[in-house]
Amino acid sequence: MRVLVLTGAGVSAESGIPTFRGKDGYWRNFDPAKLATPEAFARDPQLVWEWYHERRQRIRKARPNAAHEAITRLAHHAEDFLLVTQNVDDLHTRAGIPAQRMVQIHGDIFVTRCSRCDWRAELCDAERSNFRDHPGLAGARPSTVSNEYEDGIPKCSQCAALMRPGVVWFGEQLPWNELERVENFLDGGACDVVIVAGTTATFGYIIDWALRGSRDGGELIEVNPEETPLSRFATQLVREPAAIALPHIVDQLIRSR
Ligand code: OAD
Repeated sequence: MRVLVLTGAGVSAESGIPTFRGKDGYWRNFDPAKLATPEAFARDPQLVWEWYHERRQRIRKARPNAAHEAITRLAHHAEDFLLVTQNVDDLHTRAGIPAQRMVQIHGDIFVTRCSRCDWRAELCDAERSNFRDHPGLAGARPSTVSNEYEDGIPKCSQCAALMRPGVVWFGEQLPWNELERVENFLDGGACDVVIVAGTTATFGYIIDWALRGSRDGGELIEVNPEETPLSRFATQLVREPAAIALPHIVDQLIRSR
């Protein structure tokens, strides 16, 4: 079985992580232009870091739900499998999905990287509570970031620019390596099943990947309580929360193939 799964914020909603465009979604209360663009970071890096810090804290307290677990089961069962998630949280990883079977197309909130050069700093549990002193450091290994700070934000140890969260912001390119992994998977053959769960499919590339994945008569299953631009292409619409629907869908797929 060859399977592509595309996920969005709705899959983590039942773990207590707000979506972006839903009822209590971030973009209902905050202006993305003030928090999730390179211009916002240049204007007020502390405000941006505070928002990401709060999100990191919330994600750390959350646990993967039955939707993440079901996707992991499918990843272990299917011969060919790729999960492309727009989520920057680590809940798919914590549910046990192998790294080589997942692409985080919008980045990883627990990575801290330079706003100018390619320097990146990975997670270190011991440093995760350091935010009050050094907001940009929360979750990063200090030796790989910097010993220098500007208004509490770490500076790159290579080029001295400010460090920023390792996510994709509005107006930015998708990460080239990750994009290539998605393209390679799609070029490798049509899928028997494409599942799209918990995303408004706002971005054209999500729709494009779902349609290309299911191009040769594969099933296109949408799991979302609400209609999206993809709904009209779906061969199966499941209007239920992901944590309820996905365990059943995965059980059926595993039984049937
Ligand atoms: P959105 O907030 O746009 O959409 C969440 C979707 O999940 C909606 O379609 C909801 O109907 C659905 N939903 C809510 N609860 C659900 C549940 N329990 N089970 C299943 N579905 C549920 O989030 P995304 O589509 O992920 O990007 O947003 C895409 C991108 O826009 C994000 O990665 C982020 C955002 O701006 C960047 O920051 C670049």
